[in-house]
Amino acid sequence: MWLQAHLTVDKSRAPLIELLFENLGTLAVTLGDAGDEPMLEPGPGETPLWQATRVTGLFGGDTDADTLRSAINQALSTDVGRSLTLELLEDQNWERAWMDQFHPMRFGQRLWICPSGGKVAQKDAIIVDLDPGLAFGTGTHPTTALCLGWLDGHELQGKTVIDFGCGSGVLGIAALKLGAARVVALDHDPQAVLATRRNAARNEVAERIEVVHSDDFDALQADLVIANILANILVDLAPQIRRLLKPGGQLVMSGILEAQSEEVAQAYGNQVDFQPSEKKEDWVLLHGRAH
Ligand SMILES: C[S@@+](CC[C@H](N)C(=O)[O-])C[C@H]1O[C@@H](n2cnc3c(N)ncnc32)[C@H](O)[C@@H]1O
Repeated sequence: MWLQAHLTVDKSRAPLIELLFENLGTLAVTLGDAGDEPMLEPGPGETPLWQATRVTGLFGGDTDADTLRSAINQALSTDVGRSLTLELLEDQNWERAWMDQFHPMRFGQRLWICPSGGKVAQKDAIIVDLDPGLAFGTGTHPTTALCLGWLDGHELQGKTVIDFGCGSGVLGIAALKLGAARVVALDHDPQAVLATRRNAARNEVAERIEVVHSDDFDALQADLVIANILANILVDLAPQIRRLLKPGGQLVMSGILEAQSEEVAQAYGNQVDFQPSEKKEDWVLLHGRAH
């Protein structure tokens, strides 16, 4: 067994609580969202906190709960200590428990994302082997799912593809498995560059994918540019992304909420003919062809 102490505090106080837990012998501290404040796309190396942050300290099972409670209460003013809860946590195989949440998932007709140990029975399946990691992109998020479904439904044979904001590399690797000739994958987060390289090697497509940090990206023109980033970033990047499209090239973008799709389309409007968008939950996929 383990003992967990939870406190919900304003983000300015979170470092103090972390320090307190450390002084009391915590084995690990976890910071989480105590409200409903999604943190979308913090920049590389940034670790912003939520306005209401839940600080959890993990203590060994031999820790006496009453002693811990009074030590925490003594160190904190009543208003901060009021949110304290203690919880017993049963030991388990954590890696396995985490992986158990991931199962093979199909996108479109034949494209599958398959985590370690997963099995796909479909005979003509096209399988991308991928485990969740630190970089974004497993297929569980609707925006990635929309992009994967689009890739499965379009002819990619022999095409050159730019995977802009590659995260785990899931889109570029899927494009290669679906027949694309060459992919250039780029991201401004070094962790994503590393993850994409590793996942490409695992999927035996490393020879056909060039993975670069955005700072080292030499603009080229591609048949398809696919970018699953947030709407405001896609608007800012519009001049750069437009230049990456060959005449007649296809542009696929997601990470866009329904209410934002018009603004994004307008940023690309006079050079790309957009078709009706596709939707999944609150998110849309915009796709079109360059003139
Ligand atoms: C939502 S994730 C998408 C990952 C993956 N392509 C997918 O579809 O699941 C967006 C990725 O874009 C990257 N990104 C955000 N802004 C960027 C920028 N200005 N230039 C390059 N990459 C960027 C992030 O680091 C992140 O890996």
